[in-house]
Amino acid sequence: MMPDLRLILSLSLLEGLTACYGCGPTETRDFTLEETFSRGEMEGILEEEARMTQGEDYMDALSYASNHCRELCGWVWDAQTDTGMEVSEMVSCQATVDLEADTIHVACRGEVSTIQDCKEGRRPLGHVDPPTDLSRLGPYLALCAQLEAVSVTAFQELAQQLVAWGAPSALIQRCLEAAEDEERHAAAISTLALAEGCPPQRPQRRPAPCNLYAVALHNAVEGCVGETWAALLAGWKAHNARTPELRAAYARIAPEEAAHAQLAWDLHAWLRARLPEPQRHELDEALAAELRSLVQRAPALLRALPAALGLPDAVGAEALARGLVSRLAA
Ligand SMILES: [Fe+2]
Ligand SMILES: [Fe+2]
Repeated sequence: MMPDLRLILSLSLLEGLTACYGCGPTETRDFTLEETFSRGEMEGILEEEARMTQGEDYMDALSYASNHCRELCGWVWDAQTDTGMEVSEMVSCQATVDLEADTIHVACRGEVSTIQDCKEGRRPLGHVDPPTDLSRLGPYLALCAQLEAVSVTAFQELAQQLVAWGAPSALIQRCLEAAEDEERHAAAISTLALAEGCPPQRPQRRPAPCNLYAVALHNAVEGCVGETWAALLAGWKAHNARTPELRAAYARIAPEEAAHAQLAWDLHAWLRARLPEPQRHELDEALAAELRSLVQRAPALLRALPAALGLPDAVGAEALARGLVSRLAA
């Protein structure tokens, strides 16, 4: 049986709000990064960061990169939390080129503070989040506005895929309605971001497979977990955000996000039923892993976000995620 998301979200929100959690400060800690990249990997990184265009001399780009490491390595992947973290201070950075092996060895030390992982909206397959200082309200809202805007694309693409796979017209219609909701969300959050002087950036995408299994996997992670968590947080922000403008925007968004989360779970059931048994099993495992990961990462995810959102502290974040996940499992 599919979970009743409206009930689950209401119960989780009520439990969290009545517990009166505090709002936690942002923490920083040291990081070290030591890695050897092949020429191909480094060229990929440089191109992605727009530090090298095709045909440009690799050594010139590399010399630029090693002299502007702080700028280039704006964030690092953190194994402890399995997320990207903002580099707030670079203590040392050394890039050594081995011409014979055609590799570059990078060794950096510094301090990280902000987690680069924002569970808002529904990313289309292959979407790449821009590096963002999530601790500041303006950049956070600009990223959210971008994620709301790309959610329009995500739902439109999903509707087309469902048509091609012969899905029930009700599911297709709900995707198209969700796309319309996301257009309003994008406009509302964009207005808030612009008021903070931060226009949303243009979205970027990588090529990604879009077969039924890839879409089911993406829906489980981005929809069932991501949108359900985002819907719960939207409800929280509607109550606790520090400004009336934020509260009003999230009060309008929250019930629609709850409907999108319900849609993700209903899509999950339909897509899962069309997969062969081994892929069904992999899908179940991936969903369970993402739910476990949400509980583990919830404190760090929320700690990274602006205080103006009035989100719960580490204890509250974990309790909120744990309550949600246990209700979903039940
Ligand atoms: Fe949205
Ligand atoms: Fe949504």
